[in-house]
Amino acid sequence: MPLSTETIIKIKEAIDIVDVIGDYVQLKKKGQNWWALSPFTNEKTPSFSVSPTKGIFKDFSSGKGGDAISFVMEMDGLNYPEALKVLAKKYGIEIEEIDSDEERQQASERESLHIVTGFANKYFKEHLENSDEGKSVGQSYLKERGFLKKTIEEFELGMAASEWDGLFKALDSGQYNLEFAEKAGLIIKKEERTYDRFRNRLIFPIHNLSGKVVGFGGRIFKEEKNQPKYLNSPESPIYHKGSILYGLYQSKQPIREKDECILVEGYTDVLSFHQAGIRNAVASSGTALTSDQIRLIGRFSKNITLLYDGDEAGLNAAARGLNLILEEGLNPSIVVFPEKMDPDGFLREKGFEETQKILDLKKDFIDFLSERLLGGAGDDPVKRTAAVREVVKSISKVPDQIKKNFYFKRCSEKFGIEESLLISEHNKIKFAERKYRDVRPQKPQDLGKQSPEKGVDIEKLLAPREAELLKIMILFGNDEVQDHGRLARYILKNIEEVEFSHPSYSRLLEFYQGIDEQSQYPELEDFFNDEALSEFKATVIDITSEKYEVSPHWKAHQIHIPTLEEILGDKLPTDIFRLKWMKLKALIKDNQLQIKKLWEEHNENTYDEVMKLMRQQKDLKKKEKQIAKLLGNVISA
Ligand code: CTP
Ligand code: MN
Repeated sequence: MPLSTETIIKIKEAIDIVDVIGDYVQLKKKGQNWWALSPFTNEKTPSFSVSPTKGIFKDFSSGKGGDAISFVMEMDGLNYPEALKVLAKKYGIEIEEIDSDEERQQASERESLHIVTGFANKYFKEHLENSDEGKSVGQSYLKERGFLKKTIEEFELGMAASEWDGLFKALDSGQYNLEFAEKAGLIIKKEERTYDRFRNRLIFPIHNLSGKVVGFGGRIFKEEKNQPKYLNSPESPIYHKGSILYGLYQSKQPIREKDECILVEGYTDVLSFHQAGIRNAVASSGTALTSDQIRLIGRFSKNITLLYDGDEAGLNAAARGLNLILEEGLNPSIVVFPEKMDPDGFLREKGFEETQKILDLKKDFIDFLSERLLGGAGDDPVKRTAAVREVVKSISKVPDQIKKNFYFKRCSEKFGIEESLLISEHNKIKFAERKYRDVRPQKPQDLGKQSPEKGVDIEKLLAPREAELLKIMILFGNDEVQDHGRLARYILKNIEEVEFSHPSYSRLLEFYQGIDEQSQYPELEDFFNDEALSEFKATVIDITSEKYEVSPHWKAHQIHIPTLEEILGDKLPTDIFRLKWMKLKALIKDNQLQIKKLWEEHNENTYDEVMKLMRQQKDLKKKEKQIAKLLGNVISA
C-alpha cells in the first residue's frame, strides 16, 4: 500500500544518512565525509563514502551510489516502499497509508495470513522443544543427523505433533481466524472434519526476505510407504514457491560478503552447509529453478554456483539452470557432486575439507558444457560441432554485449575455432529466434485482425532499449570518448530524430537534449540530491537499477581516453541502430494498417491519401533495409 505523502515527508526529514548507514557498516569520519569498507564487495581499504551534506553515499569499488533510502533497498533487498517502512520504524514514525479498498483488503489478508503462519511457527518450535514426543522423536532425529542447537534455532526448526488436530486445536482455542489458517494450508477442512496438514513431521519454516514465515516444509521421520518424504505448504497469497528460496533470509548477508550464492537442492543441504560455515547456500526446494528466484539472488550477488548431483537428471537440471542464469545476466558456475550424493551426505561422510575442495573445483559454464557434451570423444567432428552449437546457444542468452564477447573468446580458445565462426553461428540462432518473436513481420492477412486504432504496442518493445541508452548517459554521460567528445553528446547526436515512446523516458531525454553543449551533464548523485531534478528521480532509480545492466566498470582502467569500442564494444552503436530499426518497423506496421484501412473504404477521397502513404512506406522500407544491413554487421543481441 502506498504511504501518504505526509508520512513520506516525515520519514525523509527524519533521515540522517550517517545514522542510517551506520546501522549497517562501521563508518569513520575523514574530512567532510565518512568512510567504510564497502558492504558490497570484499575489499581491504575503505572506498565506500557517505556525504552527510549531500545526503548520499558512493561506493567506488562497486560503482553503486544513492541516498539513504536506496542504501536500505540495496542492503535489505527491499523495494522503495518497503525501505521507507524500515526507516519509519527506525525513527518511530507512525505510518499512514493511502489505499483503495481492494488494496486494503489484500494487505489485511496477507497480514492475517502472516499472523497464523507466525503462530504455527511458534507452535511447532514449542512442540519440538518441550513436548515429550518433541524430545523423544524430534530432537533425537536431529541429533542423529548431527544438527546442532544453534542451527536448529537459527532456522527455527519445529515439529508437527503426531495427533490429527494439535495445531487446529491450538489455533481454535487461541481464537485465530480458521479461514486464514485454511488458506495458508495449515489445516484442512473436509466435510465435518478439520485436521492438520502437517502431522508427525520435522518442520522447516520458510522465511521471506524480511524474516517472516510464509510457509513450511515437513519431513517425515521414518520413510513410510504411500507417504511423501516431504510435505509442503500450498501456494497462498504470501507463499509463491517460484519466487522464494529456502535459506535466503539467513544467507543474504554472507552471499553479499562472499559475492557468491551456492544453490543446493534440499532443506537439509542448506542446514548442513550453514553449520559447516558455508553460509552462502540456499535451496530451490524441490522445484525447478525460476527466473524470479534468480533475480532475487541477483539482488545480493551476480555469481551463482549450482551444486548438482552427477547423475543424468542432475546434469540436465544444471544445464537448464545455467541457461536461465545467463538469460538473467548473472554468472553461473557449476559444481558436480559424485553420483547419488547430496551436499549434506557428502559433507557428513567426507568432512569439510573434502567438500571445500570440491567446491573449489567449480567450473564456468563453457567448461562444464564442453566437457559434458564432448565426454571422451574429443575429436569426433560431429560431436564437436554439436557441442560448439550448444555452447553458442548458451552464450546467445547473455544480455550483456561485453560479457558475450568475453565468452566468445573463451569458447574460441576452448574449441580452437575462430571467433568469427562462433559469431556467425550465434547470429543464425538469434535470427531464427527473432522469426518467432515480437518483431516478426506480420502476414498481410494477420494485419486486419489488429484494430488500427490500437496500433502496435511499440512502447513495450522499445522501452528497454530507451532505458539502456539513458542509463549509459546517466552513468557515463560526462566521460570523454576518443574522437567523439562527451558520451552523452555523442548519443544525443546519434538519436537526433528519434523520439522515445515511454513517457517518462521521453521526458528525461528531452531534459538531456535541453542541456547545452558547454554545460556538465548531471551525475547520478545529482538526481537524488538536486531539488530541480527531483521529477526524474524515480525514473533514474528505475533505469539505473540492475534491470538494465550495462557493461562492467570500464572506468576502473580509464588511464587513457578510451575509444567507444573499448567502452562498450559494439553495444552502444548496436543499441542506437536497433532502436532506430525497431522504431521504423513499428512505423511501417502502423502505416500498413492505415493503408489497409483506407483501401477498404475505397473511394476517390481516400485514393490520394493511400498513394501518399504508399510512397512513405517505400521510403521507410528503404531506410529500414539500410539499418538492417548495418545491424547485420554487428553481433545481434
Ligand atoms: N522435496 C519435496 N517433496 C518430496 C521430495 C523432495 O518437496 N517428496 C524437496 C524438498 O525441498 C527437499 C528437496 O526436494 O529438501 C530435495 O529432496 P531430497 O534430496 O529427497 O531430500 P533432502 O533435502 O536430501 O532430505 P534428506 O536429506 O532429509 O533426505
Ligand atoms: Mn539429503
